Amino acid sequence: MSQIENIPILPSQTSVVSKKDETGKPSQETKTIVYKSEVMRQLMKMLDRVAPSAATCLILGESGTGKELIANAIHERSNRKNRPFVAINCGALRETLLESELFGHEKGSFTGAYTRKIGLAEAANGGTLFLDEIGELSPGIQAKLLRFIQEGEIFRVGGKDPIKVDIRLISATNRELDVEVGRGNFREDLYYRINTITLHSPPLRRRKDDIALLVEYFLARGANRFLNRGRQMSEEAMKILIKYDWPGNIRELQNACERLQILADGHVIMPGDLPEQIVNPEQKIVVDDYDASVTLYELEKRYILKALNYFDGNKTQAANALGITIKTLYNKLHEYGEFEKYAVHVKPKAPGTGAGA
Ligand SMILES: Nc1ncnc2c1ncn2[C@@H]1O[C@H](COP(=O)(O)OP(=O)(O)O)[C@@H](O)[C@H]1O
Ligand SMILES: [Mg+2]
Repeated sequence: MSQIENIPILPSQTSVVSKKDETGKPSQETKTIVYKSEVMRQLMKMLDRVAPSAATCLILGESGTGKELIANAIHERSNRKNRPFVAINCGALRETLLESELFGHEKGSFTGAYTRKIGLAEAANGGTLFLDEIGELSPGIQAKLLRFIQEGEIFRVGGKDPIKVDIRLISATNRELDVEVGRGNFREDLYYRINTITLHSPPLRRRKDDIALLVEYFLARGANRFLNRGRQMSEEAMKILIKYDWPGNIRELQNACERLQILADGHVIMPGDLPEQIVNPEQKIVVDDYDASVTLYELEKRYILKALNYFDGNKTQAANALGITIKTLYNKLHEYGEFEKYAVHVKPKAPGTGAGA
């Protein structure tokens, strides 16, 4: 464990070294993965299979979907669980700093290197190294990382002798790494080395079954629960939370719960306590990805209403832009039960109010 003492305190979000107490248990409480959805059930099953192996894992998913939590869970379910879990955010440091952070440096190897420093890869020896945002790595570091993975050896910056290091590598990114490979931004040989197993951390909008459980969990465990406000979500408020798409995923949900717990009027959080952008979100049309929860009918409806809003309710302009006749547009609006709402030619905009139900 003496290796770990050399690790500098880094700005938060840069790296995490999980320290173990004498009993070998992590000193912070182990992080629970809360879920009940089928996609997450499948993912956890996969995780149980993969964790005991030595395979490198690549976790893909949007920001805030719990990639770091998954990486940690792999470590905790492996036979390396009593050894360090070291996480580093590759996007948070510029190249030279990242190299010395990752591989360490010898005394005097550059201006400011007053002492020898053990890098995070070396500190993770025997354990797991988690490279978050690996898609951000510069070509220089990619080459050094590839060498490390192939040879199992590192060189400290300014060091002459290779140092044997045994780690299990887990990486994560919110980029489409195969696309980055195609574009020449990410080395193909490195890509194949880091993704023996690929795990997909699904966005929260694809596992809405988890929302209620997560909300309960965050409200019960929130740092501000002692305020004794917002301990519970009312049924109506929960419905709204489930309807919302959570672009920031679980991180956004966690933050929302924390704010609600502080700001709520009473014990039970009511719809009126919810922030406006959650109650009336700007509906985004995302079509780059298939979404099993959206039917073609629903997508068309959203798109048509979006067009109408864009043209301030002007149906002629909307129909023209959509490439349909005005008659078709009328028919659609009748079908949606939205005809009355758009009966007036130009919908006057009330500035600053989002009060449209
Ligand atoms: N299934 C889950 N259950 C409980 N907390 C979760 C879950 N998924 C994510 N979180 C929490 O949400 C936040 C974001 O997760 P994180 O692993 O940092 O996401 P990512 O690395 O994908 O951006 C963290 O505070 C994490 O503990
Ligand atoms: Mg992360």
